[in-house]
Amino acid sequence: MAKHVGILTAGGDSPGLNAAIRGVGKAAQIVYGMDVIGFRDGFRGLMQDRIMRLDGATSTDILTRGGTMLGASRNKPHRMPVGNKLLDMTDVIVSTYKRHHLDVLVCLGGGGTQKNALRLKKKGLNIITLPKTIDNDVAMTDTTLGFDTALGIATAAIDRLHSTAHSHHRIIVVEIMGHRTGWLALGAGIAGGADVILIPEIPYDVKTLAKAIRLRSREGKQFSIVALSEGAMSNDDVKALSAVDEQKKGEARKGKGASDTELAELEIRLANRTLSLSKRLEQLTGLEARVTILGYLQRGGTPSAADRLLATRLGTACARFVEEGLSGVMVASRGEEVEAVPLEEVAGRRKTVPLDHPWIQAARDVGTCLGD
Ligand code: F6P
Repeated sequence: MAKHVGILTAGGDSPGLNAAIRGVGKAAQIVYGMDVIGFRDGFRGLMQDRIMRLDGATSTDILTRGGTMLGASRNKPHRMPVGNKLLDMTDVIVSTYKRHHLDVLVCLGGGGTQKNALRLKKKGLNIITLPKTIDNDVAMTDTTLGFDTALGIATAAIDRLHSTAHSHHRIIVVEIMGHRTGWLALGAGIAGGADVILIPEIPYDVKTLAKAIRLRSREGKQFSIVALSEGAMSNDDVKALSAVDEQKKGEARKGKGASDTELAELEIRLANRTLSLSKRLEQLTGLEARVTILGYLQRGGTPSAADRLLATRLGTACARFVEEGLSGVMVASRGEEVEAVPLEEVAGRRKTVPLDHPWIQAARDVGTCLGD
């Protein structure tokens, strides 16, 4: 009997999702004769049983399209917004799965999705995941869907910022996504030739950056590009964060609530960090500074060739794993191979940039300041 496969895209979108849906859908139907249905808007659509039939026609002409044809949401099965409450809707999701007689549910998502997938596996569902996020921070896979495209976009932005920074003798601080990891800022910073690269894995000292920028000025280079990862923190930010953490722990021990005011102040401070950094650099260097926040541009538009290739490799391998009866795994890209990695080895483990990573050494070797 034909196997029934459900598929959804959860978390933030990223380029390459449609290519992956196509890869799973085409191989599942053409090679293995399976029935495939999509659920709209991630786990929310699964809870609400909003489906899209994925037949040959729907999986055609989507390879190059950005976003996700299924829609996405950050809603989690066990904390689903319903009315003005967050409810555990896992049982409803399990019923939808059973109603459609699914043999497997394929979830395309980032770190949060891997955790949610593992929770559903523990409820008895057969789940397979594919790693997607422009942040490249999913454990146990060499790379994630969308990272290469975002890397290209951020690099092209840094290229363009060079000429205007040069013309006006300015510092331009460019904020790059990446959540709490620095893969995107580090990769684009190196590829785009940023003079300073700041990532969450290496807390920075603003005086060190200012010194590096002043040195460039003395050498006759009257402009600088600072590639700042959105999660990067100065040594002072790190201290402030751990002070709030300590305080929260202390309050919790005394049975009181956490200190909301200090936490809110810290959040505001961190939210404004890019602007604050640029102001501080102006003061310390005497050069004019400007900010560019790349934001959602990095997630939009057509996927790169590398992402289409990755999506097709992972998607088709996923269909093969379904045929072989595998579940409870993430379809990972490891070297030349595609491997099935148990969800337990992925969920809850963020892949940060190791401090001895060759990219860090390469950046230092071409004289890039990393803020430490
Ligand atoms: O995880 C991908 C990502 O784009 C991060 O780089 C960024 O921090 C976050 O999503 C933004 O989330 P949202 O789409 O919920 O604003």
